[in-house]
Amino acid sequence: MKVFNKNKLLQGYLSSLATDVSIGFIPTMGALHEGHLSLIKKAKAENDCIVVSVFVNPTQFDKKEDLVNYPKTLEKDLKLLEAIDCNVVFTPNTDEIYKGNITSTHFSFDGLEFVMEGEHRKGHFDGVGTIVKRLFEIVKPHKAYFGEKDFQQLQIIKKLVQKHQITVEIVPCEIYREKDGLAMSSRNVRLTNLQRNEAPFIFKTLTKARDKFEKKTISEVIDWVEKQFEKNPVLKLEYFEIANIKTLKPTKLKEDKIIYRAFIAVFAGSVRLIDNIALN
Ligand code: PAF
Repeated sequence: MKVFNKNKLLQGYLSSLATDVSIGFIPTMGALHEGHLSLIKKAKAENDCIVVSVFVNPTQFDKKEDLVNYPKTLEKDLKLLEAIDCNVVFTPNTDEIYKGNITSTHFSFDGLEFVMEGEHRKGHFDGVGTIVKRLFEIVKPHKAYFGEKDFQQLQIIKKLVQKHQITVEIVPCEIYREKDGLAMSSRNVRLTNLQRNEAPFIFKTLTKARDKFEKKTISEVIDWVEKQFEKNPVLKLEYFEIANIKTLKPTKLKEDKIIYRAFIAVFAGSVRLIDNIALN
């Protein structure tokens, strides 16, 4: 496994590969877990050379304490990547990426950026767009893999690629869950025992909401979910929305032939967890 922390060295290595070598790319912020490994396994089955980046991107954090507290476990990550037979790891520092100017570019994602995560985490998707575009320019992958846990991010990256005519195929990967249903996230390690025990309530509530969706109105489903969280002393609901998967606009109106998904963000103390589920 080759590990590079400089753009030039990584690019030098990748351009030395034969022209027919396909590159599969998995951008991460480290603190790798089984969810990341499942993306890497999928990429390995579909590409000749796997590149994983580990970079905690400062411009996508709307709160400084979230960036400071984000788990950083590079040594452990490298061991996991070695064990899974990853080919190339890119571990740049902030200077290497931002060249002394740690700001994000402003993007238009045709409105996908204003709702849900975009509404609650100002500037988040400009930060994501900036780093993902930069990494695509450096790595020039044929395929790039993103988990559906960050469903809004996935749609935004598809839009980024389309609008900027970046020649990469974006491959969505299903949410990877713990046995008790909690969506895998690097943030889960920050949960206390009490919060960790309570956290599967998020997915349990989502699955019950999905079951109710067929017969109830959207407002009834939203009210029901909000009531469940009002009764929970450990988890604080930030938002629960039902949205058309194309526009991501939260709606109260159920229409025929539209595919809907439910989206949720919850605080367990200062740890923010998100999840989503297909409804029809
Ligand atoms: O999903 C993530 O871990 C990050 O948002 C990403 C795509 C690696 C960009 O920093």
